[in-house]
Amino acid sequence: MEIIIQPTPKAASEIAARIVARVLQAKPNAVLGLATGDTPLLLYRELVRLNLDWHKVTTFNLDEYVGLAPDHPASYHRFMWENLFDHINIVKKNVHIPNGLAKDIPAFCQKYEDAIRAVSGIDLQVLGIGTDGHIGFNEPTSSLGSRTRIKTLTQQTRQDNARFFGSEAKVPHHVITMGIGTITDARRCLLLALGTKKAQAIAEAVEGPITAMNPASILQAIPVAKIVLDEAAAGQLTKADYYRWVYDNKPDWQKL
Ligand code: PGA
Repeated sequence: MEIIIQPTPKAASEIAARIVARVLQAKPNAVLGLATGDTPLLLYRELVRLNLDWHKVTTFNLDEYVGLAPDHPASYHRFMWENLFDHINIVKKNVHIPNGLAKDIPAFCQKYEDAIRAVSGIDLQVLGIGTDGHIGFNEPTSSLGSRTRIKTLTQQTRQDNARFFGSEAKVPHHVITMGIGTITDARRCLLLALGTKKAQAIAEAVEGPITAMNPASILQAIPVAKIVLDEAAAGQLTKADYYRWVYDNKPDWQKL
């Protein structure tokens, strides 16, 4: 696991964008796993600015709310098109986002897993982290081997996401999310976290035990995981100086 601490959200997002760009440059038909929420907004803005070639790229989003149509203002379909896909040359058929209106959710989830497998898996999975340590919508106690499935959101997550819906009462109770096993099958993971409200979840994920109580802690167990933080999100790490020292002393070619 590599911890990269940057002074500001913008600097952290730019590093994250360069990590994504590097994957697309090395493999024009790369398969990316993508995240939603406030955290990746600057990352996506920077990716748009970099004007990369996305025409052979395939994407799989982590999650979607059950019951929301793709054109619902708070749906992750809308989020992805408005914040990234409408501004790049991605081919629509290569975009995959869980269908919140799927009639048979278990069958849909199996098809999602099959689709990821059919393109030989995800090259780079972009992640945020919830204040409770969730990745995707894998809330605490999610099985570390779980696959794409329906999950029930915690009260904490519904409160955290009420801002996208206008009120907590309007936040759906259920979501379809890639599982932790689906996420950790990716060849590499890039977790971006910004702001003090993520500091405790990050400290537990990076420096605590691997535990289903903090699903992001599973990143300790995968071969390539980069954790990109602003100072605020790094605020509770006890070994922050060590991570900075390691990053500052890497060979330049290894820094992405
Ligand atoms: P946020 O959500 O980026 O809106 O804070 C992150 C997450 O819940 O994974």
